[in-house]
Amino acid sequence: MPVRKPPVPRLVLDNVSCMRNAQQILRHVNATLHDGSALVLSGTNGSGKTTLLRMLAGFNKPTAGQVLWNGHDITNSGVFHQYKLQLNWLALKDAIKDKFTVLDNVLWFELLEGKEGNSVPALELMGLGKLVKEKARMLSMGQRKRLQLARLLAMDRPIWLLDEPSVALDGEGVKLLEYIIHGIERKGGLSFAPRIFLLQWRMPWF
Ligand SMILES: Nc1ncnc2c1ncn2[C@@H]1O[C@H](COP(=O)(O)OP(=O)(O)O)[C@@H](O)[C@H]1O
Ligand SMILES: [Mg+2]
Repeated sequence: MPVRKPPVPRLVLDNVSCMRNAQQILRHVNATLHDGSALVLSGTNGSGKTTLLRMLAGFNKPTAGQVLWNGHDITNSGVFHQYKLQLNWLALKDAIKDKFTVLDNVLWFELLEGKEGNSVPALELMGLGKLVKEKARMLSMGQRKRLQLARLLAMDRPIWLLDEPSVALDGEGVKLLEYIIHGIERKGGLSFAPRIFLLQWRMPWF
């Protein structure tokens, strides 16, 4: 009888270390992530959470160990070329164009991704449906964070790297974020395959 092999993990951190500014920030970090899982990073300020996310995004290279995507080292340039297209990156710099409308700030990213039809449902899901025609400069900090999340929903990439995604969100915004992380089945025309989430955040259920 054929023996079914277990699936290759989507993402593996294999004994990873990382330096910044000649300082060792991460030491021998190990993690295995399959589709549909979330890794929540917690720790004191300066303990290396953002550094880990930046390393997974390819901004910093590991000084030792490997990050494997589908079993392949992401520092291999051919692999990285494919891997980077899997990433949904959210950080404090929001890359929102104040002069564009709320909708255009999402739509541009969706179109660049070669997709269509998700921007309005994503903005509606994030509670910004009534603001789609407003200029983005009108938004509050929390609304800007909601716009960032709507953009990620519209782009719909499989690996979400979220640095402090709950900062500036109100209680309802945090609930929406939890809802996204727990896995959207189908709502407002949006549907998603299982995703991987790596995030720097204190979540109430942990
Ligand atoms: N741009 C940078 N260049 C050099 N070192 C940095 C830089 N940003 C942060 N660091 C250092 O890296 C360490 C980890 O920072 P960081 O990963 O941002 O921590 P956290 O996200 O857990 O608060 C800190 O000691 C910080 O001073
Ligand atoms: Mg940080």
